[in-house]
Amino acid sequence: MADTYYKNKTILVTGGAQGIGLGMAQAFARAGANTIITDADEEAGKEAVAFLKEDKLSAEFILCDVSQEHEVVSLMKQVGEKYGQLDALVNNAGIADPFMESLDKMQLSEFDRILAVNLRGPLLCSKYGLPLLQHAATPAILNISSTRAYMSEPDTFAYSASKGGLEALTHSLAVSLAEERIRVNAIAPGWIETGAWQKKSKSYTPRHSKEDKEQHPVGRVGTPEDIASAALFLCSDQAGFITGQSLTIDGGMTIKMIYK
Ligand SMILES: NC(=O)c1ccc[n+]([C@@H]2O[C@H](COP(=O)([O-])OP(=O)(O)OC[C@H]3O[C@@H](n4cnc5c(N)ncnc54)[C@H](O)[C@@H]3O)[C@@H](O)[C@H]2O)c1
Repeated sequence: MADTYYKNKTILVTGGAQGIGLGMAQAFARAGANTIITDADEEAGKEAVAFLKEDKLSAEFILCDVSQEHEVVSLMKQVGEKYGQLDALVNNAGIADPFMESLDKMQLSEFDRILAVNLRGPLLCSKYGLPLLQHAATPAILNISSTRAYMSEPDTFAYSASKGGLEALTHSLAVSLAEERIRVNAIAPGWIETGAWQKKSKSYTPRHSKEDKEQHPVGRVGTPEDIASAALFLCSDQAGFITGQSLTIDGGMTIKMIYK
């Protein structure tokens, strides 16, 4: 990827106000892209723009709940009016807490809500972002999935199902949008520490035990920067022969065999 690849490119990061999304927004802005952050949390969105400004970076914040069709329609209308095209759509927004009640106690409404944000959201953004992606020279969609698409702790029904669905949506979109020259890939992060990337009222200083670190073959927990560098690659022309794939970024946690 040339250093100038992202100059004059327009990138939309959903859920970009905090956590991994903010890390990716910062990286795209540093690379020179017109960076748009959308998020359902207005306070976090405003703080994210101010945070980037401290680094002399600019980003625009647009309030949107990605599970709401009319809000996504309005989001893409605003992006189209200002930028005319979308070079990359990063579907990152998600309800990131994977845990629910046990199967007998879980609320179906909660299951539906998580599916609506984590799976329907990326579909809605892809559907209504399509006309803008079609105007770009080398368009890309990147879905932020999870290693929980492939493996589970107990009582993570909705989250695991939503991320498994997002992995399938990734290859389905990749094949369906191939004629439009839109590449569609996913990143499946493992444990990514976002404590320092939350809005002020929620941020905390992360502390990881020796066990936390040692369960990762690379010897540490991941950071939003670990995901951001791969996101920049996958959305660029350097990844022009990659579509329909999911890249696991987990410090090797899912390849580690455990016998106790
Ligand atoms: N942090 C991890 O360890 C980890 C691991 C695997 C996958 N992921 C995935 O990465 C993505 C980001 O996770 P994170 O850990 O940075 O979470 P986070 O909670 O720090 O950030 C998620 C952002 O999405 C926003 N959001 C939530 N619901 C929304 C909605 N309906 N519409 C628009 N915005 C909404 C939140 O306000 C927040 O700013 C999620 O999709 C998550 O499932 C995270």
